[in-house]
Amino acid sequence: MSRILLMHPILDPGPQILAEAAEVIAYPAGGPLDEASIRQAAEGCVGIVSQLMDPIRETVLSTPGLKCVSNVAVGFDNIDVAAATAHKVMVTNTPGVLDDATSDFAFTLLMTTARRVVEADHFIRSGQFHGWAIDMMLGQDIYGATLGIIGIGRIGRGVAHRAKGFNMRILYYDPQPLPQEAEEQLGATRVDLNRLIAESDFISVHVPLTPETQHLISTPQFNAMKRNAILVNTSRGPVIDEAALVEALNAKKLAGAGLDVYEREPAVHPHLIPMANVVLAPHIASATVRTRSEMSAMAARNMATAVRGGRPPNLLNPEVKR
Ligand code: GLV
Repeated sequence: MSRILLMHPILDPGPQILAEAAEVIAYPAGGPLDEASIRQAAEGCVGIVSQLMDPIRETVLSTPGLKCVSNVAVGFDNIDVAAATAHKVMVTNTPGVLDDATSDFAFTLLMTTARRVVEADHFIRSGQFHGWAIDMMLGQDIYGATLGIIGIGRIGRGVAHRAKGFNMRILYYDPQPLPQEAEEQLGATRVDLNRLIAESDFISVHVPLTPETQHLISTPQFNAMKRNAILVNTSRGPVIDEAALVEALNAKKLAGAGLDVYEREPAVHPHLIPMANVVLAPHIASATVRTRSEMSAMAARNMATAVRGGRPPNLLNPEVKR
């Protein structure tokens, strides 16, 4: 029976789907996540079921006999897809099933940061609430505000859809325009990044991490933001220059940030930790019971199909398997 390496546990029904297709070798829990160690564990395996913290690059992808890497995530910046293609290794991801959960969470961060919910919760629990006051915990209006969406893929569109219910003015920046019908349906206007940054009360980031999007938001963008702006990131940490964000927050160039992802994850810039106007979440945007289960099943099905010699449904490098 073919062997596959499962880097981290996945949720039901994923394990069953994998077990029906191959002998599953579990990577040691808490084991080192460096390329050399993963390569060693992958020897003799035709597949690796990876997650976003696993570096899957040349060293791993050159493992003899390796046929498929199935990432349990929609993002795949942890995998060198060009190197995989060169080694004829299929790469798959889990698109679509996490769009709603992630859009929900982007909106959750937007609202939580705007209305200072985490700060308010701490205020109560630390015994500081001694009565109503007219100027207590003033936040930012959401209803009717301007939302700038950077990246109008499935998740960006999901956020726009939610924003419509809040009567928001929706701007978006994306090199690829939406069809006119979709723009009309969402009430979204395509603008350049400078205009989006300058006019938005809320900015939500929904781009993949690529060399082009790394530090897309840095000092010049922070300098151009409205002072009441709130920045939300549920995409990938390095899209935002975290040191520049800290500087901009210290200089009050924006009002706050809601972050689910970090430039050097799982490390968080230490100066963000004490900031009351920043809401920090541990990369949980897709973390609902149903979504994570569907991601597990999808990744397992991709791998099972590859092991059986088929073409996985969510193949990112189709040139490997015509
Ligand atoms: C999570 O960040 C994912 O890419 O699925």
